[in-house]
Amino acid sequence: MKIFTKKSRQKILFVATEAKPFARAGGLGSVMYSLPRAMAKLGYDARVMMPRYLSIEDSEKITMEYEGLEVPTDNEDGDPVFICNVKKYQGNGDKNAPVTTYFLENMEYYEQRANVYGYADDPIRWALLSRGVLEFIKVSSWVPDVIISADWQTGFLPNYLKTTYKDDPKLSTIATVFSIHNLGYQGSFNHRYLSESDYDDGHSSIPSFNNPRLLKLNGIRRGIMYADAINTVSMTYAKEIMTPEYGEGMDAILSERRGVVHGILNGIDYESWDPSNDPLIEHQFSIEDISSRKANKEALQNRFGLKGDASAFLVGIASRFKQQKGFDLLQEVLPSLVNELNIQIVAVGEGDEKYMKFFQDLHNQYPERVGIELKFDEVIPHLIFAGADSTLIPSLFEPSGLTQMEAMRFGTVPIVRKTGGLADTVIDYSPTRKDGDGFVFEKFDASSLLISIVRAYENFQNIKIWKGIQKNSMKKDFSWESSAMKYQKLVHKAIKINDDALAKKAGKSLKP
Ligand code: GLC
Repeated sequence: MKIFTKKSRQKILFVATEAKPFARAGGLGSVMYSLPRAMAKLGYDARVMMPRYLSIEDSEKITMEYEGLEVPTDNEDGDPVFICNVKKYQGNGDKNAPVTTYFLENMEYYEQRANVYGYADDPIRWALLSRGVLEFIKVSSWVPDVIISADWQTGFLPNYLKTTYKDDPKLSTIATVFSIHNLGYQGSFNHRYLSESDYDDGHSSIPSFNNPRLLKLNGIRRGIMYADAINTVSMTYAKEIMTPEYGEGMDAILSERRGVVHGILNGIDYESWDPSNDPLIEHQFSIEDISSRKANKEALQNRFGLKGDASAFLVGIASRFKQQKGFDLLQEVLPSLVNELNIQIVAVGEGDEKYMKFFQDLHNQYPERVGIELKFDEVIPHLIFAGADSTLIPSLFEPSGLTQMEAMRFGTVPIVRKTGGLADTVIDYSPTRKDGDGFVFEKFDASSLLISIVRAYENFQNIKIWKGIQKNSMKKDFSWESSAMKYQKLVHKAIKINDDALAKKAGKSLKP
């Protein structure tokens, strides 16, 4: 189904701080690769714009698009503009190539930075991105009909568009969608402990780049307030964030804008996550015959120095090591589980020091049962999901979550907390109904998690039952197709809202 009304309504620009394969720190980077590709498949001219970090190397596919772009800083003293370049990546038609991607280049703020996040001047870097995108469009012959910007870093973009640039004839026709991938991050500060004088109500104009107030701006609130439409990455999280428990202080403003808040579940990239055609794993397999998972399990045990034991319940964890991901609960339950049951653990990822230390200590104590790789890695999650029996995702909150979907596509049975996207993707196994594709617990506490792990462990002992659960999980459809159709509707809704507002404004100005 195509619902284009006019030829000109076909251009979408995604603006984000990360997009695979150029830069990725987490799930956002994966979505910024696969969602634009899914929209392109629907017929849209979907493109991405992001900063050019140090890690993004030159290639013949990346060419100069605009040299010497002047981005106003509003600084009263100091540089009135920052000079940037825009480079453009264009794929060579390779089936896995990302969509056309623009890079905003600035030596000081991006090209000298090895990491995506974590600098004291991040708000300046993201305000520069938001404003740089708009300044680029002003001089570009390619003008999007809608901009979809992601998370607090690019919440400034709809804000600039609806204030500073509202009378610009070219820019004012562009509709905006603000995507919330994580409400837990709202700016460079900790929004949970904020003094009253640092509170940003979102109404003041965006300060100049060298004004310290810029560092206190709440990008999430501004994105929510100024965008034509808002979405988050699962249906359940969309409902949850309108409650005080999950709203992170945004529940009231989100409820006010309820009519334009949508929940659209992420998909995963089916080409990169396909057990029957995955060059990263040793033994490929498909739902028709999953017997070679056994060999993958052996390979995984081998790689991590674990005891080669087919009967051990091998649990994989591929995650950011953060409180959000339920690591406090893992700390509570894992030591006794490893001690008491025939359980093995493989954990990969990085994050907070205390959680990394916990896994390091657990590994030191049980080297044959606990394997670790304490850094972000793109390959090991494939090995884990091809060989592990189960994966653990006991999140405190989870906007969407991608790893449970990746795991399930490979027949690794997820154990998850019933929240956000996890609630929308995993069905608790029921021995009476004999259905379900994972193990789900509700209450965020250690005993609830423990019970669900023990339930999984018990069912794992029955090969037939376990195979049934694995196959149920592999049967699930997590491809982007149906979600992309929902984005299509959202995009058209945003365009209509902006068009109506423009028409209203024009009508008013016609009146004497
Ligand atoms: C964030 C969320 C995660 C989501 C991802 C992509 O990392 O924490 O739940 O899957 O964004 O949308």
